Amino acid sequence: MVPRSSLTATITAIITILLLLPATTSQAQILKSEDHVYGPFNSSYIYGPLINIFHVIPSASINQGALQITPDSAGNISFHNNSGRIFYNKPFKLWDDHDGALASFNTSFLINVYRVNKTPGEGIAFVIAPSLSIPLNSYGQYLGLTNATTDGSGANKLVAVELDTVKQDFDPDDNHIGLDINSVRSNVSVSLSKLGIQISPNGTVFHVLWVEYDGERKVIDVYMAEQDDKDAPIAAKPTKPVLSSSLDLKSLVNQESYFGFSASTGVTYELNCVLRWNISMMVFPENKSKDWNGITIGLGVGVPLVLIGIGGLVYFLLKKKRAGSYSDPQIMGTLKSLPGTPREFIYQELKKATNNFDEKNKLGQGGYGVVYKGTLPKENLEVAVKMFSRDKMKSTDDFLSELTIINRLRHRHLVRLLGWCHKNGVLLLVYEYMPNGSLDSHIFCEEGSTIETTLSWHLRYKIISGVAYALNYLHNEYDQKVIHRDLKASNIMLDSDFNARLGDFGLARAIENEKTSYAELEGVHGTMGYIAPECFHTGKATRESDIYGFGAVLLEVVCGQRPWTKIEDYQLLVDWVWYLHRERRILEAVDPRLESNYVIEEAERILKLGLACSHPIASERPKMQAIVQIISGSVPVPHVPPFKPSFVWPAMDFSNFDSEITATSTTEYSPFNTQSSSVHVGLSDV
Ligand SMILES: *[C@@H]1O[C@H](CO)[C@@H](O)[C@H](O)[C@H]1NC(C)=O
Ligand SMILES: *[C@@H]1O[C@H](CO)[C@@H](O)[C@H](O)[C@H]1NC(C)=O
Ligand SMILES: *[C@@H]1O[C@H](CO)[C@@H](O)[C@H](O)[C@H]1NC(C)=O
Ligand SMILES: *[C@@H]1O[C@H](CO)[C@@H](O)[C@H](O)[C@H]1NC(C)=O
Ligand SMILES: *[C@@H]1O[C@H](CO)[C@@H](O)[C@H](O)[C@H]1NC(C)=O
Ligand SMILES: *[C@@H]1O[C@H](CO)[C@@H](O)[C@H](O)[C@H]1NC(C)=O
Ligand SMILES: *[C@@H]1O[C@H](CO)[C@@H](O)[C@H](O)[C@H]1NC(C)=O
Ligand SMILES: *[C@@H]1O[C@H](CO)[C@@H](O)[C@H](O)[C@H]1NC(C)=O
Repeated sequence: MVPRSSLTATITAIITILLLLPATTSQAQILKSEDHVYGPFNSSYIYGPLINIFHVIPSASINQGALQITPDSAGNISFHNNSGRIFYNKPFKLWDDHDGALASFNTSFLINVYRVNKTPGEGIAFVIAPSLSIPLNSYGQYLGLTNATTDGSGANKLVAVELDTVKQDFDPDDNHIGLDINSVRSNVSVSLSKLGIQISPNGTVFHVLWVEYDGERKVIDVYMAEQDDKDAPIAAKPTKPVLSSSLDLKSLVNQESYFGFSASTGVTYELNCVLRWNISMMVFPENKSKDWNGITIGLGVGVPLVLIGIGGLVYFLLKKKRAGSYSDPQIMGTLKSLPGTPREFIYQELKKATNNFDEKNKLGQGGYGVVYKGTLPKENLEVAVKMFSRDKMKSTDDFLSELTIINRLRHRHLVRLLGWCHKNGVLLLVYEYMPNGSLDSHIFCEEGSTIETTLSWHLRYKIISGVAYALNYLHNEYDQKVIHRDLKASNIMLDSDFNARLGDFGLARAIENEKTSYAELEGVHGTMGYIAPECFHTGKATRESDIYGFGAVLLEVVCGQRPWTKIEDYQLLVDWVWYLHRERRILEAVDPRLESNYVIEEAERILKLGLACSHPIASERPKMQAIVQIISGSVPVPHVPPFKPSFVWPAMDFSNFDSEITATSTTEYSPFNTQSSSVHVGLSDV
C-alpha cells in the first residue's frame, strides 16, 4: 500500500513534470535516425533469432546467404513466371502526425541479378507498399508490383525503384532503372547502358544501390555502383545519381508503409538476390508534441481536471493491487526481467474466449495442467490457453520456467507464445492455436482414432525435418543452449500446412540450470521409450538425451507405431527395427498404411538415422547439426552396427561393441561421470 503522504508527493511530482515538459519539448524537435543493417543472410534469418525480421512472400525465400526475391534453386519449382516479395516486417512512419513533415531516409542494398541463360528476365525493385502482400499474377512484366488489373490504380499506394531487364513496349530498353508510381509504366526511367552499367551482364556481377529520400526537399536520388565481390567492403557511393526526381510521398503512399523488395521472372528468367540491406530512417518524437501543446494552452483550466485524473489513476492502481492481481512479487519480478516483456492478457477475456474453461474446449492435459482452445473475438484469433494446475508453489515454478524459456525463442518450427495472464493465483500461458493438433493424433494406427486418412510420406518427411531444425536451433543456434527434455509425438504440433511446431516447453530447461531431474517429475512414466537409458542413472537431461527422444520420434513417424509397441518378440519398437536392419529388411518397418507411396531412399535414411540416434551410448549419437544435414540428404547416414550395442554404465570401454563411428570426446554436458563404479545394464535383448 502506498501511504497517503507519498501519494500526495507522487501527484506533486507528476504535476511538476507536466509543467516542465511543454517548455522543453515544444521548442525544438530533435530528429534522430534509426539504423537497420542486415546481411549476410545466414541461418539466423532462416531458423534462428532473426527469423521474424522479414516477411517473406513466395516465390521469394531466404536461402544461401541471400534474400532470393525469385527462386535461386529450381528444386521442384519452375524458374519461369514467378514473382515474390520480401519486406522488413514493421512499417515505417513516413510523416509526422503533428505537422505532417515528411521523413527522410536512406537505404542501400547489395544485389546480384544473375542471368542463367542468354536473356535475363524480368527485374527487381525496391518497393514502398501499404501491406505485407503481393498481387496475384504479378509475374512477368509486372515485377511483383502490380498485375493486369491493378496496374496504374491509385489504390495501390505504391512507389518503387525498378531495375528492369526486359523491354516492354513502354520501356526505353532492356537495361534501365525507373521510378514507378502505382504502375510498372515508370514515371521516370533512365537507360543504364549509356552510363556503362549492365544490370545483369554475363557472369556474376554485384551492384550496390543507394536510394536517398529527402523529405524536406521532397526529392528521391538513386545511386548505383558496381561491386567486385560480395564480401568486399561496400563500394564508394558515386557523386552523381543515376536517377533523380521530385517525389511527394505524402500524396502517394500510406503514412505507415512497408519497405522491401519485389521481383519477377517471366518467359525468360534471372536470379534476383539481395545480399545486404541497410535502412537509415528518420524517426519522429512519439506523438507527443501535439499533446504537450494542448496542455500548455489548457493549463489554466486544465490543472484541476488533470489532478482529478491522476487521483483516479492512483486510486485505480491501489485498488488493483488490493485485488491481488499483481500480488506475487516473484512473478512480477521475473516478468519485468524478461526481455521484450510478453503481452499480458486480461483474465476475463481468456475466460470468455474458452467459454469459462469449458471441458468441451479441452485440447489436452499433462502433468502440469490443462490446455484449452479459445477464440479472441476482437482479434479474430484462435489461441491455446494453458492453465497450470499443480499446487500454488509448483504451478508458479512451472509457469515461470516455461515462460522464461519460451519467451525469447523464435523459430518457425516452435509454437509461438502470445502472452500470459495471472489472476488470483490462476496462471495461464497463451499460445498460437495449431489447427491440426499434435502429431500423435495423425501417426498411430489406433482403435478409436477419428483420423481416417494417413499422413503422406511427403508430409511425414516435412514434419521430421521441421522438428530437426527446431531442435538444432535449441541445441546450437540460440544463444543459450536449451534442452527440450520431453520430445515425443504428442508434443509436436502441426499448423494449418502440416508444418511441425515443437511445443510444450513445460520440461525444457536452459542448460545452465538443469537441476530438476526426471525422477522428481510426475507423469514421466507415460513418456517411457523416449527417455535415454543414461537418464535413469544421472537423472539429468542433456542434448544427447534429447537426440535419443528425437530418434524415437523418427521411428514412430516412419513405422506408425509407438516406441513401446511390442512387435514379434521385441519389447520396444527400436529393437524390432534394429533386428530388421540386421536382416537387411529395414523397409519392412515402414508403416504399411503408406503401401508403396513413399520414397525408398528417404525411408531407409530416416530409419537408420532413428537407430543411430537411439544408440545406447550417449556420445555415439549424432549431433543435431549433422542430423539436419543427414535429413536434407547432403550428408550420408552414419554407419549403424548390425546389433544394437549394449548399454554400458559408466561408458568407458568403447571397444566392447561393434561400432565404426569414431567415439567423440564427451562434452562438458555429458552425463558420464567416471567416479561411480561400473555397472552394466543390459537394456538390449540382442
Ligand atoms: C548471422 O548474422 C547475424 C547478424 O548479422 C549475426 O549476429 C550472427 O552471429 C550470424 N550467425 C551465424 C551463425 O553466422
Ligand atoms: C513436385 O512436388 C509435388 C508435391 O509437392 C509432386 O507431386 C510432384 O511430383 C513433384 N514434381 C517433381 C518434378 O518432382
Ligand atoms: C509464362 O506465362 C506466359 C504468359 O503469361 C505463358 O505464355 C508461358 O507459357 C508461361 N511459361 C511457363 C513456363 O509457364
Ligand atoms: C542520408 O544520407 C545523406 C548523405 O548522403 C545525409 O546527409 C542524410 O543525413 C542521411 N539521412 C538519413 C536519414 O540517414
Ligand atoms: C551498411 O551499413 C554499414 C554500416 O553503416 C556499412 O559499413 C555498409 O557499407 C553498408 N552496406 C551497404 C550495402 O550499404
Ligand atoms: C490482381 O491482384 C488482385 C489482388 O491480389 C486480384 O484480386 C486480381 O484478381 C489480380 N488480377 C489478375 C488479373 O490476376
Ligand atoms: C506517374 O505516371 C502516371 C501515368 O503513367 C500518371 O498518371 C501519374 O500522375 C504520374 N504520377 C506522378 C506523381 O508523376
Ligand atoms: C552475353 O553472352 C551472349 C552470348 O554468349 C551474347 O549474345 C550477349 O550479348 C552477352 N550479353 C552481354 C550483356 O554481354
